[in-house]
Amino acid sequence: MARIPRALTLLAGFVGVTTAQTLWPLQTYKSSSIETPYLNVTKMGQTEPGYLFISPHDILRGNGYPTIYSDDGQLVWQGQEGNYSALQPQKLNGESVIVYWEGFVAEGFGFGHISILNSSYDEIHRVNVDCKAENFVTSYGSESFSSCIDIHESQLTDDGTILVTAVNVTQADLSSVGGPKDGWIQDGLVYEIDIKTNEILFRWSAYEHINELPMSNDIAPLGATGAGSGANQTDPWGYPHLNSISKYGDSYLVSSRYMCSLFFLAPNGTITWHLHGRTGGDFNLSLDTSFCYQHDARFESQSAERVTIGLHNNDNTEFTGSSSLTTGMVLELELQGSKQVTLKRRTWDAAEPVYAQSQGSYQPLGNGHILQDHGATPKIEEFDENGSIVMRARFGYDNTMQTYRAYRYPWVGQPSTKPDVVACSSSDGDKSTVYVSWNGATDVQSWKIHSGSKVKSSAVRNGFETVIVVDSLRKGDSLIVEAVGGVGDGTRSQSVTVGHGC
Ligand SMILES: *[C@@H]1O[C@H](CO)[C@@H](O)[C@H](O)[C@H]1NC(C)=O
Ligand SMILES: *[C@@H]1O[C@H](CO)[C@@H](O)[C@H](O)[C@H]1NC(C)=O
Ligand SMILES: *[C@@H]1O[C@H](CO)[C@@H](O)[C@H](O)[C@H]1NC(C)=O
Ligand SMILES: *[C@@H]1O[C@H](CO)[C@@H](O)[C@H](O)[C@H]1NC(C)=O
Ligand SMILES: *[C@@H]1O[C@H](CO)[C@@H](O)[C@H](O)[C@H]1NC(C)=O
Ligand SMILES: *[C@@H]1O[C@H](CO)[C@@H](O)[C@H](O)[C@H]1NC(C)=O
Ligand SMILES: *[C@@H]1O[C@H](CO)[C@@H](O)[C@H](O)[C@H]1NC(C)=O
Ligand SMILES: *[C@@H]1O[C@H](CO)[C@@H](O)[C@H](O)[C@H]1NC(C)=O
Repeated sequence: MARIPRALTLLAGFVGVTTAQTLWPLQTYKSSSIETPYLNVTKMGQTEPGYLFISPHDILRGNGYPTIYSDDGQLVWQGQEGNYSALQPQKLNGESVIVYWEGFVAEGFGFGHISILNSSYDEIHRVNVDCKAENFVTSYGSESFSSCIDIHESQLTDDGTILVTAVNVTQADLSSVGGPKDGWIQDGLVYEIDIKTNEILFRWSAYEHINELPMSNDIAPLGATGAGSGANQTDPWGYPHLNSISKYGDSYLVSSRYMCSLFFLAPNGTITWHLHGRTGGDFNLSLDTSFCYQHDARFESQSAERVTIGLHNNDNTEFTGSSSLTTGMVLELELQGSKQVTLKRRTWDAAEPVYAQSQGSYQPLGNGHILQDHGATPKIEEFDENGSIVMRARFGYDNTMQTYRAYRYPWVGQPSTKPDVVACSSSDGDKSTVYVSWNGATDVQSWKIHSGSKVKSSAVRNGFETVIVVDSLRKGDSLIVEAVGGVGDGTRSQSVTVGHGC
């Protein structure tokens, strides 16, 4: 039992000493039982359009939800409670979908499945990696999981496939790094899977490429908090801790947190090139291009001669503390000749610097803007094309709330549910207040209140819950609220009675 609450604090490698025990305030509503972290948005300039997609996990309250907020901090959608990771809207065959991981969180990794929801928030695909068929070994001898996809990645490709990571807890000789001969590691796997059929199209294991990726590349000390001692199956060492995968042509870009490395894999799994953020690997690194423990590495451009890569460089961990500034970086790699690595861009908030211990993401937006999320520091930042901060959005105190990644995207939500309504009468009974919300609806313009055969009132939608005072509705009257505008135009609530549920 003791292990479980602790494990909940460990999403994506986070081990926090939770000092602040103050609970972050929640937003609550009358028409809905939903409670969501208050999102404190401060804008210093023009932001790019789009909603904010996060999966806040409240470590003190012990819950988490997939969540969408508007740019001004209003809730748009909250899904069911659970353990979520890497929530992101993506395109599947041209259709906008929401993709996320859900499952069991172990210490810095997990065992679960990927859900793909359509714009009605209905699951249209579930991607699994069958633990039995793939002979997975887990860190929990007695626990068994049906699907063994790890928390860190869920990228759709243009070919109807998805890229995910997985962790196989397996035995390995750790004597080269000062550990036991019969030690245990968290082998990191990359899978490409057909979304419709769940067929595995590509499988790669770091440990199976130990000749190309010797353990000495991994700089996480054995036994360091969060990295694992490797002494037994319940405490496997974090070799290699993979956290982002992308596909370019037939090759895969892979990020390893504890190796401080990016590898480019050929279709047959051999490593075409290896950039190590401390030693350079195949490249010539300078002081200003050094990085480590990074997240979310993606190509921004690619040619035969060079690539540019954007990444989130949170060069800190639970065992190194928080002494390195977290920055967004764009690196240019010369693939031939000099093998030089050049820093093209670095983004950080100089006025409120972040030293994040774990997790995070880096998303290039339109017009040169960047969105950065800081994982264990529950804060989202947007920078403009000149690197000036234009938005800070905080949803918790450090190390007590987290989201592994955050994204900004346009979205049109068309919930298959009906709007939720409650109507309360004033104490003197001569007017009523109507509260209406519709979880997930993005483009309702106004609400119309019907009672009997009359339209009693109408009001412009105002955030997640619109509050409308109506003079001519009394206790006991029944009413229906209708959505006006947008994809749900004309959708009506159930009939409710004034005074019921207040
Ligand atoms: C929201 O953030 C601003 C800027 O940091 C701060 O001044 C304000 O106190 C915060 N509001 C709340 C309610 O936390
Ligand atoms: C979430 O993960 C924890 C372990 O960290 C587990 O106890 C719990 O059952 C999981 N919840 C769900 C809904 O899978
Ligand atoms: C989403 O999927 C559900 C279940 O298949 C379906 O009923 C609904 O119409 C779909 N929504 C949209 C907008 O296609
Ligand atoms: C996991 O490791 C075991 C050996 O410990 C091996 O038999 C099994 O095939 C591995 N599974 C995967 C998915 O690599
Ligand atoms: C596994 O090893 C760790 C570190 O040495 C130790 O704390 C733990 O008790 C061991 N667990 C088991 C089940 O042996
Ligand atoms: C794998 O592919 C690479 C790049 O095409 C090639 O150089 C290498 O020889 C291949 N390795 C094997 C074992 O086939
Ligand atoms: C690496 O780059 C530095 C300049 O940053 C240069 O002086 C050095 O010669 C380069 N080393 C190699 C092996 O190319
Ligand atoms: C960015 O810098 C350029 C050149 O100084 C300037 O013209 C532009 O207005 C700046 N953009 C913003 C958003 O401040």
